[in-house]
Amino acid sequence: MNTLTLAAPAKLNLTLDILGKRPDGYHDLQMVMQTIALSDTVTVRTAPGSGHITVHMPGSDLPTGPENIAHRAAAVFFAHIGIADVDAEITVEKRIPAQAGMAGGSTDGAAVLRALRTLLRPDLPTATLEKWGEQVGSDVPFCVRGGTALAEGRGERLTTLPSLPECHVLVCKPDFGLSTPALFGRIRLDAICRRPDTAAMTAALTTGDLPAVAGNLANVFEEVLTGRERQEIAGIEDAMKRGGALNAAMTGSGPTVFGLFDRETAAVEAAEHLRRRYAQTYLTHPL
Ligand code: C5P
Repeated sequence: MNTLTLAAPAKLNLTLDILGKRPDGYHDLQMVMQTIALSDTVTVRTAPGSGHITVHMPGSDLPTGPENIAHRAAAVFFAHIGIADVDAEITVEKRIPAQAGMAGGSTDGAAVLRALRTLLRPDLPTATLEKWGEQVGSDVPFCVRGGTALAEGRGERLTTLPSLPECHVLVCKPDFGLSTPALFGRIRLDAICRRPDTAAMTAALTTGDLPAVAGNLANVFEEVLTGRERQEIAGIEDAMKRGGALNAAMTGSGPTVFGLFDRETAAVEAAEHLRRRYAQTYLTHPL
């Protein structure tokens, strides 16, 4: 039996733009993505067997059957390598909030792909693993690669970028979830008012200019929030900015908000303040 344990980091969207609707029902996106230290832990055990996959998620009520993204990733990997003489047993210890815009599921799937490569096919190129990841989910190729990248197309066309400069990242998830397909459904492409300046974000990362990175945080999904969602998300952003964040924005299809801080004491104080109301508040940093 072989066992490997990997950290599966969450991602944040420094930018998220929607360029168009595709014939396959997906949208063409342009996103600058960044992995952060907040992580799940994924353990994969392989043993001689018959291609059987089991998933355990202790302390979580997420489904563990074939619909589970970690399960799906293992099935995709097995299908590609064409062997049916091993079993995979996967344990996912969740820390990343689910349905939060942080790729909490995609990163578990990506960790399963990376672990199975190390255990079964160590020579497999990362580009191949990213390609297989597309079949598991749109954010999986980025999660295989990690770091900082421009993601285009469905999210699978990746260009590695210089990392977000060192800073303190405060992440806060309000107590409701937002459905990704529902939010895509609300977008009217010709009515988007404030699109991210992706070129300016890329330039800010290239020069390592943290205030300019912060100044360019933008996510078009924030425009289609309504009612309580909008109020709470704007409220968390304001609290972070009042607490000293250079800027704050929603990540992915939300509802999680993150703020970038250059001063640790301010970040710690803002975290303590927000945690009184929102249990899912985390102080972390870029990876
Ligand atoms: O690929 P994934 O399963 O993560 O996507 C979840 C949902 O998000 C899709 O079913 C689709 O509704 C939406 N989506 C999209 N365009 C993308 C990525 C996701 O419309 N590029």
